[in-house]
Amino acid sequence: MPRVLLILGGGIAAYKALDVARELRRQGMDVTPVMTAAAKEFVTPLSLEVLCGSAVHDELFKAAQESQIGHIQLARSADAVVVCPATANLMARMAHGLADDLATTLLLATDAPILLAPAMNVHMWQHPATHNNVQTLQKRGVRFVGPVEGEMACGETGVGRLASIESIVDEAVKLLGRSSALSGRKVLVTAGPTREPIDPVRYISNHSSGLQGFAIAESLARLGASVTLVSGPVALSTPPGVLRVDVQTAEEMKVACLDALPADVAVCVAAVSDWRAESQHANKLKKTANGPPAISLVENPDILATLSQCTLRPTLVVGFAAETESVKDHARQKRQRKGCDWLLANDVSKYCFGGSRNQVHFFSDKEEEETWPEMDKKALAERLAERIAAFFAASV
Ligand code: C5P
Repeated sequence: MPRVLLILGGGIAAYKALDVARELRRQGMDVTPVMTAAAKEFVTPLSLEVLCGSAVHDELFKAAQESQIGHIQLARSADAVVVCPATANLMARMAHGLADDLATTLLLATDAPILLAPAMNVHMWQHPATHNNVQTLQKRGVRFVGPVEGEMACGETGVGRLASIESIVDEAVKLLGRSSALSGRKVLVTAGPTREPIDPVRYISNHSSGLQGFAIAESLARLGASVTLVSGPVALSTPPGVLRVDVQTAEEMKVACLDALPADVAVCVAAVSDWRAESQHANKLKKTANGPPAISLVENPDILATLSQCTLRPTLVVGFAAETESVKDHARQKRQRKGCDWLLANDVSKYCFGGSRNQVHFFSDKEEEETWPEMDKKALAERLAERIAAFFAASV
C-alpha cells in the first residue's frame, strides 16, 4: 500500500485536508497525518486521526511518538508527501531549509516527492517573498497544485484558494505513480564538460554548464531510477537521491561510465572534449623567444560510441548532439555512426551553453524525427524522463 505523509499547515483551509485524507484512503493509500502547532488551531487532531485511521504526529521531541516511529524513519518511509494547506510561512521555512518543528524536519529529511497545495490570502500569495520561495521550491522539484482563484475566507477575491479536493488527490496519485515508474532501473547520465590538461595550469575545455545533464539525472531519479551521474567540473549541486562521480578528463569519464555498468539506460549529455594534448607538460610552459609552443592533439575516446557498442550495452542508449549548422542531417548521421538508440540534437548557435532554455529534434529508429518545442531545460528533462519510462513500460 503506498504511504502518504499528509502534513497540515495552519490555515483556515485546514479543514479541507480532512476530505483530502478521506479521499486518499479511499484510493487505497496509507495516510500518516502530521500537524503543525498552528494547524491544531483549526482542526482537532482527533478528527484527523479518525479519518486517517492513524495517530497524528505533531511533536519533534515527544518521547511517546519517537519511540513508536522516529521522525527520520517517518520521513524516509513515505512514498509521497502532501502538504495541505501549505501556508506562506511553511513554504518560507521549507525554502530556507529550516527544521524547527516536526513538519519542516520531515520535509527536509524526506527524499520522497513532495506536493504542496497552497492556500492563503491573495496578497500573501502574490508577495515577492512568497513568489521567490515558490520558485526556489519548484527548482528543487517540489510540485504544486493550486492555489486557484475565488473568494477567500477573509472576504477578498483573487488567487489564493486551496485547489479542489479532487485535483489535490489526482496530483498525489500521479506523484505516487511517477515515483515508481522507473524503480528498479539503473541509469547512467554523463554531464558537464571535460577538462584536458596541457600543463599544470592550462587546459582544453568548453562552455558546458552541466545544467541539462543534471536536470535529466534529477528527473530520472524522481521517477524512481537509481541514477549514477558522471560529471565533469561544474558549479552545480547534486540532485537529491543521485550518486555523483566527479571526473576531469574524457579518459576518466570513460572509466567511470564503464564502472557504472551494467545499466538499463545511458544518457550521454556531457560535452566531452574531442581532443586532448598528446603529452602533458610537467611544468608550466614558458614564453620563449621561439614563439608560441606547438600543442599536438590526439583524439579522446568517444564515450557514447563505446557505451553503444560494448558487451554490457545498456538497453537504451541516448545521446545529445550540439550542432551549429545542418543540425538534422548531422544528427541523423551521428546516431547511425555512434550506434545509439535515441539522439537529441540542438542548435547551439541559437541555444547557447549555460542558458536555461533548449530546443531539440528527437531522432530514433523512426524515419521522421520529432521537433520538440522550445522549453526550459528542466521541462525538457522531464519530457525525456517520461519518454524513457514509457519505453520501459511498453517493453514489459
Ligand atoms: O560527436 P559529438 O561530440 O557531437 O557527439 C555528441 C554526443 O556524443 C553527446 O551525447 C556526447 O555526450 C557524446 N560524446 C561522448 N564522448 C565523446 C564525444 C561525444 O560520449 N568523446
